[in-house]
Amino acid sequence: MGKALVQFTLFGLLLALATTLPNRGDWDIYSFHINATVTSRYAITVITSRVVNRMDESKEIEFHVQIPKNAFISKFKMLIDGKEYDGVVKAKEQAQQQYDAAVSRGESAGIVSSVGRTLEEFKTSVTVAPHKKITFELTYEELLKRRLGKYELQIHARPMQPVRDFKVDVHISEKAGISFLDIKGGLNTNALANAVTRTIVDKEAWVYFYPTEDQQKMCDSCGDEGLNGDLVILYDVNRNNSLGDIKISNGYFVHHFAPSNLVRLSKNVVFVIDQSGSMHGRKIEQTRIALIHILNDLAEDDYFGVISFDSNLFHWKRELVQATSANVDSAKIFAQNIKDRGATNINSAVLEGARMLNANPREGSASILILLTDGDPTTGVINLDKIQSNVKRAIAGKFPLYCLGFGFDVNFEFLESMALQNDGAARRIYEDADANLQLQGFYEEVATPLLTDVMMVYVGGTNLTQTNFSQYYNGSEIVVAGEITNNDIETFTPQVVAISSNTRMVFNNPNISLEPPETKFDRIQRVWAYLTVKQLMEKE
Ligand SMILES: *[C@@H]1O[C@H](CO)[C@@H](O)[C@H](O)[C@H]1NC(C)=O
Ligand SMILES: *[C@@H]1O[C@H](CO)[C@@H](O)[C@H](O)[C@H]1NC(C)=O
Ligand SMILES: *[C@@H]1O[C@H](CO)[C@@H](O)[C@H](O)[C@H]1NC(C)=O
Ligand SMILES: *[C@@H]1O[C@H](CO)[C@@H](O)[C@H](O)[C@H]1NC(C)=O
Ligand SMILES: *[C@@H]1O[C@H](CO)[C@@H](O)[C@H](O)[C@H]1NC(C)=O
Repeated sequence: MGKALVQFTLFGLLLALATTLPNRGDWDIYSFHINATVTSRYAITVITSRVVNRMDESKEIEFHVQIPKNAFISKFKMLIDGKEYDGVVKAKEQAQQQYDAAVSRGESAGIVSSVGRTLEEFKTSVTVAPHKKITFELTYEELLKRRLGKYELQIHARPMQPVRDFKVDVHISEKAGISFLDIKGGLNTNALANAVTRTIVDKEAWVYFYPTEDQQKMCDSCGDEGLNGDLVILYDVNRNNSLGDIKISNGYFVHHFAPSNLVRLSKNVVFVIDQSGSMHGRKIEQTRIALIHILNDLAEDDYFGVISFDSNLFHWKRELVQATSANVDSAKIFAQNIKDRGATNINSAVLEGARMLNANPREGSASILILLTDGDPTTGVINLDKIQSNVKRAIAGKFPLYCLGFGFDVNFEFLESMALQNDGAARRIYEDADANLQLQGFYEEVATPLLTDVMMVYVGGTNLTQTNFSQYYNGSEIVVAGEITNNDIETFTPQVVAISSNTRMVFNNPNISLEPPETKFDRIQRVWAYLTVKQLMEKE
């Protein structure tokens, strides 16, 4: 009797699913290509999906892909019956209503919304006449960011069915030479190993991924619906010139600055850890694990402090102390005993962290304030603008603030704008089995400061993207783009001025290479536009 009941329920569920899924028999994706070309870390990716309506009646055909969050969509078009239509792309979640309205009016619109950690979803659908074909073509662009010594190109493939003609083509071209290339991601599994080929020749690399229809059902998260996963290409470039390289074309320049042959600076770091009631359970456990691991990684000449907070503040020590093994051991015991309870007083906690750093200004070292929280301020000062202005005044541009938002109950925009106002960045930590690794990974990125007060100076340059950076970390990269005044390359003089352990360093005469101007499609200018727009959005 119990069994019959279960079967009945399952049957009902299956029926419900069947009516909401697009009917795969109605249309067929007969070709799906992803073509990414990367030149000087700027990636342009084109997804082309060709679909046929098999039915004797008009059918709504869906195009649904996932693209990296950092990317901008630069073009979306459809080809129906030899005619080309430019699609309208509506941004983010707010557009859902407009999208629904447009679809109900029978218009075609694309929509972008956030999914997962690093991807965003692009979705559109179009009514196609009986037995007609349609081609969707989406182009997106992104500047690959260097993290922990690698650039990462993420390609997500989920066509929703096995596809006869499925191809991913990646071409990377880096003038300085490719120092290594690695392929990772859920699609690079054993079952699909022979579907991947790679060729690296000095300055260029090609990666092809051509799985057969059978192989498309074989990777870890793949199945009857075909591929579902990522191909992640990691690489780095040669750098024998610590001054970086500058590329110029059509009156625009881009400067990549990533020296690694410098001594590491010692750090002053204060960890401000939320222990409010909402951190209960796995979050507080993972925070403890990560914190203990991070404390272990401190260098002996680093100075550090740990504060945990709810409605009150709990100091391990009131002032910064040196990371001797005895001090680290004692801090680890403090970290082990952080307990969840009470409300969230972000204002007092961050101000106290700033006070500790301000009270211990060691010449020639790099100060860093790190806040980890999982919720909105609920006690003390709770007005967000007031907190931001208090924090800005306390930090006064002297060191960066990094905000880690744990889970989805945080006001991430608040954390992000507070971090950006103080030369830092915000990162979301996803509540998952690997949250402690995410925390450690973030810390690693800032663990080795090499320079402070970095000023990128371009005499003869104009319309520059951000030029002042409070710190530069090993494994990262500073990228500046701009226009060359009157396209006069003779007077254009780039220079980097920065502090490295008490010494003022000047980097000049970098390796300037003139790129042959590309007609109608200038990448250098695109990098400039990309950075300008990204930075304007951050200022917002
Ligand atoms: C990929 O795109 C590039 C640049 O648009 C083009 O030159 C190349 O032929 C394309 N490759 C494939 C396999 O379509
Ligand atoms: C770096 O050095 C390698 C040889 O070690 C050379 O092939 C390459 O062209 C150099 N790159 C730059 C940017 O100078
Ligand atoms: C910076 O990173 C490079 C490459 O990973 C490494 O060789 C170098 O030792 C690092 N520098 C410092 C100061 O840790
Ligand atoms: C960069 O920093 C220098 C020195 O602190 C300052 O004079 C300059 O105005 C800053 N530039 C920008 C664009 O903030
Ligand atoms: C500048 O870079 C080019 C390749 O981008 C390389 O061939 C050349 O040797 C470099 N010159 C210097 C002085 O590093």
